[in-house]
Amino acid sequence: MGTPSPEEIKAGVAGVFDRAAATYDQVGVEFFQPIGRFLVSRTGPRPGERVLDVGCGRGASAIPAAEAVGPTGSVLATDLAPAMVEEVRRTAGALPWLTVEVGDAEQPPEGTFDIVQAGLVLFFLPSLDTALARYRDRLAPGGRLGFTWFGEPDTRWEPVFGALVADLPEGERQSRTPGDGPFSSVAAMHDHLSGQGWSEVSTESLVHEVRVRDADHWFEWSWSQGYRTVLEKLEARGLLAAARARVGRLLEEMAARDGGLTWRAEVHATLARG
Ligand SMILES: C[S@@+](CC[C@H](N)C(=O)[O-])C[C@H]1O[C@@H](n2cnc3c(N)ncnc32)[C@H](O)[C@@H]1O
Repeated sequence: MGTPSPEEIKAGVAGVFDRAAATYDQVGVEFFQPIGRFLVSRTGPRPGERVLDVGCGRGASAIPAAEAVGPTGSVLATDLAPAMVEEVRRTAGALPWLTVEVGDAEQPPEGTFDIVQAGLVLFFLPSLDTALARYRDRLAPGGRLGFTWFGEPDTRWEPVFGALVADLPEGERQSRTPGDGPFSSVAAMHDHLSGQGWSEVSTESLVHEVRVRDADHWFEWSWSQGYRTVLEKLEARGLLAAARARVGRLLEEMAARDGGLTWRAEVHATLARG
């Protein structure tokens, strides 16, 4: 098996989120919506503004942005996973100035926008720089780009993620929080953006605590979001039941030790002007 092409990588990611869409953000875990609102608090859409929301998922940032711009503004939300697009269309009927389309975040639609925003998406893109250059091109003078991404992982969970992927071949073990290159630190991200001519680059961060009831709930949540990638790989190789048993034991120990199961996600929201 050779190195996958950018198109194959994107199709793989879109497939996972397409299969996750029905339960994405629907399993009783507060995560994507608060992070989406955090992003919108940073991009600050005003009535009448034009917003492009790429990799919109089920609308965690697109819907609050649409509420903020109101009927004199517009939000165009795109996602590569058709089932995500359908879910947003189904739930956003009361906001006719929100348009949702299948689309690649690396190939934003033509048009001029006051805001381009991307919630927990950019680290999936095979070519971040292609995307960033195109966003600059689409922004009105003084327009702003805002995006969220993961910071430091919760080290308490390393044994859990390690136990889950232990039987997978090394090349198949996906890290929990993609953190290479510009995503390795806030300083690296700021250098990267400034080097490409973005101005007024700033980042605010929060630590969001995800709470799950028990091991079953953690697995249910994992199937409903990007970590599904790993579970599907285990399932395809017939390794899921063994991994489930190993992880279940670790989670029970963790719950007993910590008085419940919580996962702390550090999330950065970076803002820049084009
Ligand atoms: C972690 S989810 C975040 C979704 C949403 N922004 C939120 O905050 O809930 C990542 C989303 O990015 C989408 N995605 C990944 N790669 C993409 C690409 N190249 N173009 C468009 N969407 C993409 C996935 O389908 C998925 O819906």
